[in-house]
Amino acid sequence: MSSLSASDKTLVRESAVSIRSLGLVYKTTLDRRPTLRNRLGRLARRKRQTRIVHAVRDLTLDIPYGQVTGIIGSNGAGKSTLMRVIAGILPPTTGKVEVFGKVSTLLSLGVGFNNKLTGRENVYLGGLAAGMSRDQIDEKFDSIVEFSGLEEVIDAPMRTYSSGMQSRLAFSVAASLDPDIFIIDEALSTGDARFKVKSIERIRQMKSDDRALIVVSHALKVLREICDEVIWMDKGRLVKRGEPLEVIKAYRSFLEVGSSPETDEDF
Ligand SMILES: Nc1ncnc2c1ncn2[C@@H]1O[C@H](COP(=O)(O)OP(=O)(O)O)[C@@H](O)[C@H]1O
Ligand SMILES: [Mg+2]
Repeated sequence: MSSLSASDKTLVRESAVSIRSLGLVYKTTLDRRPTLRNRLGRLARRKRQTRIVHAVRDLTLDIPYGQVTGIIGSNGAGKSTLMRVIAGILPPTTGKVEVFGKVSTLLSLGVGFNNKLTGRENVYLGGLAAGMSRDQIDEKFDSIVEFSGLEEVIDAPMRTYSSGMQSRLAFSVAASLDPDIFIIDEALSTGDARFKVKSIERIRQMKSDDRALIVVSHALKVLREICDEVIWMDKGRLVKRGEPLEVIKAYRSFLEVGSSPETDEDF
C-alpha cells in the first residue's frame, strides 16, 4: 500500500477515497396511507406517488490513509448513504467517487447474515459474500470467533443472539478481511463495554498498519478518542471537518440550539 516513510506521511497522506461533487438521490414510490381501500383506489387510478430524497448533495471530500476519520450528524444526514456509495453498494447519481483500495464494511456484512443459520454458518456466509475463499475462512475462523468472544454460542442459530452479539460477530468477520479501507457504520456502540474496548484497540492497530478507517457513530466521546479528523454532515452536506474536538463541539452546540431529538443520543 503505502510506500511513503513515516516522516513523509505527516506531510502527504495518500488518498483512500476521493469524492467529487457527489450527489445521491433516492427515488421511491410511496404509499402515503397504506390502507387496503387506499391502495386499491390508487391502483385503479394507476397513479404513483414518488418521493425524492436528496440524501447527499454536492459533496467533495478526500479521505486519506493512515488515519481514523469520524462521521457525525443527525439521523437522516446522509451518513449511511455516503458509506454505501464508498462501499460500491450504491452508484452516485451525480459526481464521482474513486476508491483506491479494498473496502470492507460492516453494513454490507450485516446484510449478508441470515438469522436462521448458526453463527458458524454466518461467518462462512459473510466471508464468502465479502469475497473470501472457503480455505481463507477456514484459516481465519478460530481467530474470528475468538475475537468475537462467542465461542460458546457459535453453533446456535443467530436469531438467538442479541443485537450486540450479532454486531460483535460482524465486526470480527469484517476486521479479519484485511481491508485497506474499513467502514464501521454505527456498530461500535452496540457491543458491550468490553467489546467496545477491544474493537477500539483493533481500529488503532489497523490505523497503525496505515489503513483508512471510517467510523460513523453517535458515540461522540469514543470518536473524540479515536479519530484524527471528524466530518459533520447535515441534510446531505458537509457542514464542517477538522480537528475532532472542534467539530464535535460545533455539532453539540448546533444540537442544543436546534433542540432536536438527537440531543438524547449517546455522548
Ligand atoms: N433506501 C432508501 N430509499 C429512500 N430513501 C432513503 C433510503 N435510505 C435512506 N433514505 C433517506 O435518505 C436520507 C439519508 O439517510 P441515511 O443516509 O440513512 O442517513 P443517516 O445514516 O445519516 O441517518 C434520509 O432522508 C433517508 O430517509
Ligand atoms: Mg445511518
